[in-house]
Amino acid sequence: MITNTELERKGDLFPSEITNYEKNVDVLNFVTKNGVALQVTILRDSVLRFRYATTGIFGNDFSYAITKYASRGYNKLEISEDNDHYIITTAKLICKIDKTDLKKSIYDAADETLISQDELGFHWEESYQYGGDIVKMSKVSPDGESFYGLGDKPVHLNLKGKRFENWVTDSYAYGKDTDPIYKTIPFYIGLHHKKAYGIFFDNTFRSFFDFAHERRHITSFWAQGGEMNYYFIYGPEMSDVVANYTDLTGKPHQLPPLWALGYHQCKWSYYPESKVREITTKFRELKIPCDAIYLDIDYMDGFRCFTWDSKHFPNPKKMVKELEEDGFKTVVIIDPGIKIDMDYDVFREALEKDYFCKRADGPYMKGKVWPGECYFPDFTNPEVREWWANLYKELVEEIGVRGVWNDMNEPAVMEVPGKTFPDDVRHDYDGNPCSHRKAHNVYGMQMARATYQGLKKFAYPKRPFAITRAAYSGTQRYTSSWTGDNVATWEHLWIANVQAQRMSMSGFSFIGSDIGGFAEQPNGELYTRWIQLGVFHPFCRTHSSGDHGDQEPWAFDEDVTDIVRKFIEIRYQLLPYLYTSFWQYADEGIPMLKSLVLYDQEDSQTHFRTDEFVVGDHILVCPIQEPNAKGRRMYIPRGKWYNFWNDEIVTGGKEQWVDADIDKLPIFIKEGAIIPKYPIQQYVGEKEIEQLTLDVFYKKGKENSTVFEDAHDGYDYIKGRYSLRNFKLTGKTNELIIQQYKSGKYITAYNTFKIELHGLPFKIFKIQIDNEEALFDDVRVNGDNTLVVTKDFSELHIIGE
Ligand code: GLC
Repeated sequence: MITNTELERKGDLFPSEITNYEKNVDVLNFVTKNGVALQVTILRDSVLRFRYATTGIFGNDFSYAITKYASRGYNKLEISEDNDHYIITTAKLICKIDKTDLKKSIYDAADETLISQDELGFHWEESYQYGGDIVKMSKVSPDGESFYGLGDKPVHLNLKGKRFENWVTDSYAYGKDTDPIYKTIPFYIGLHHKKAYGIFFDNTFRSFFDFAHERRHITSFWAQGGEMNYYFIYGPEMSDVVANYTDLTGKPHQLPPLWALGYHQCKWSYYPESKVREITTKFRELKIPCDAIYLDIDYMDGFRCFTWDSKHFPNPKKMVKELEEDGFKTVVIIDPGIKIDMDYDVFREALEKDYFCKRADGPYMKGKVWPGECYFPDFTNPEVREWWANLYKELVEEIGVRGVWNDMNEPAVMEVPGKTFPDDVRHDYDGNPCSHRKAHNVYGMQMARATYQGLKKFAYPKRPFAITRAAYSGTQRYTSSWTGDNVATWEHLWIANVQAQRMSMSGFSFIGSDIGGFAEQPNGELYTRWIQLGVFHPFCRTHSSGDHGDQEPWAFDEDVTDIVRKFIEIRYQLLPYLYTSFWQYADEGIPMLKSLVLYDQEDSQTHFRTDEFVVGDHILVCPIQEPNAKGRRMYIPRGKWYNFWNDEIVTGGKEQWVDADIDKLPIFIKEGAIIPKYPIQQYVGEKEIEQLTLDVFYKKGKENSTVFEDAHDGYDYIKGRYSLRNFKLTGKTNELIIQQYKSGKYITAYNTFKIELHGLPFKIFKIQIDNEEALFDDVRVNGDNTLVVTKDFSELHIIGE
């Protein structure tokens, strides 16, 4: 036990007893004798916000992370008191605040389980050097508690026993356990007694989390400035915690265009134009589906953003148009560093308008990046963001570029200690002027936001597609992301898997890794295993630094090409499934990738699993992460699952061996699932979808599945022009019933279904559609348990002999 005397020696200060409180609709303000104020806001039955001010005065309440939709107004706040506490009660929670020291304990209102309890609670240290406080919070961690979340940390999924730092950092060739790296997502999930809660510490200063690392039963978090300002989000379902966190910090503002869920090919760099065309032509020749081709920094004139190298790309508009005709969308990179060059209009304009970041004493923030010495726009200034957004007019509206890739936006600066801006650099912070200490973690987010706004404006009526490397909580509203400069090693394949899952449970599902590894070169086997995982990640792109050889699907040998093609084809077949799960994410905040613990927290076996995950609602995937494997042991969650390759049914709830030679990956489908599939296309929109395939996996019992469709681009779906099919499967010994409930105003191009029945335990004797015996015109049954139903049915009965 640390005693108060020891703490005092360390300089820690604590709140004293409550002298007064005020209630204002959904906000409670407590004041203590030594001037500390605690503000508690009830946002939802299961979401409380705690804000502390050490001087009794709160600063301007401004957050880049929290959306304006987060506060919907809550007017059912109940407060009572006993001798020692003030007690706040909602339908889900009871929060007791100690009258003597502001310490809180939060209970599940249903069964009074203690969910979260302050240990030292709020305390702080005055910061002599910078002013303000180093704000701290510590909580008791009960036995058996596990921790998850925190964005892109390249460590075991369960964070227990570790300490982390949040400071967005360019991390070329980072490794397992490197910390911090590119993203700051100060949100974690705690799980004990099979109940999950989340904490979002919305503080953009350099922050730290300690999960029972320094002291076995204590979890703490602190930041080097700003306010102790955090949200407590109760589940008890982990998926509800994530959904509520995603609701607070925002869901993607719109669905991505469907092509963005296709396969993307990238390299540093494809140039000149003839090289780009050689690559795209090869994809079509070899019939490997691909939707996007990327131009890295070499497309520019001397790395000046918004310019083209006229020698290598003499007519970008023509090139982009012709690529588009062949189904390739062009995505270009844009970095934040603007080359210091008076003959460069972007530089001149920003200088004239005073848009560049400055040092505390006045000079510009000068730093070296690819173009040499640069200045950097202050993206935390709304006027600068608008200017930046408008710079995309030519690229997007005139040239026809369909996506923008923002890189180096940590911001990365070369050849300097810390690899970023010094702390004294000034920022506007949307009218709350501050130093880089506060703005650093959101700089990349605000750049991505400005890019997104430009794309959205100039791509209209098409949807924008952006990708960013740096991010803070909430960045998922604007853009997709990748995990930065990884390495072509087996360990990095493990890292990619963990990072994608972790980002997904941190509210940011649109994520993928550089498939094959960015630095160094994979052999064919590693590349194959990586593609097999990558096709199940929401963002699916091969990228490499290029200086170690080629990394296209044909760069290895023919066997590799064939397997890679097969897996990319599987992704293209699954597009309606992936799109539906994206829609669930954008609509309800449901993570697209579900780590086993999130999938089934009741089963404590899942709490320490890392490799296996569920994509969407029903597909279980487990990567092969070592060379020469013929399969692996994996944990299959409870319930019955169909092996994707041979329809063998396995019962989960235990670890088991699964065969997966180099041309296979362990993939299982949950029994009862109905998986929608498209025909293989070389790119999205190549074919008119005339028929939807439904892979139906028989289950004795019930299961629900969903298929969301719309125009795959544009905004009509927001006005109701979407088609939502909810399928209810009921399996009996001698009968399989599929009920379909439709909503939305979008008419799909198809209204016939090819139904592939898996695991049907009886021989089909008769089929009824909408309560009538099916006529030959309505349905054709093939010997192999496939039916073609030529009617958009409401109820299908497949009856056995
Ligand atoms: C950074 C990016 C990488 C890109 C390279 C050149 O290292 O992370 O993806 O290819 O810069 O632009």
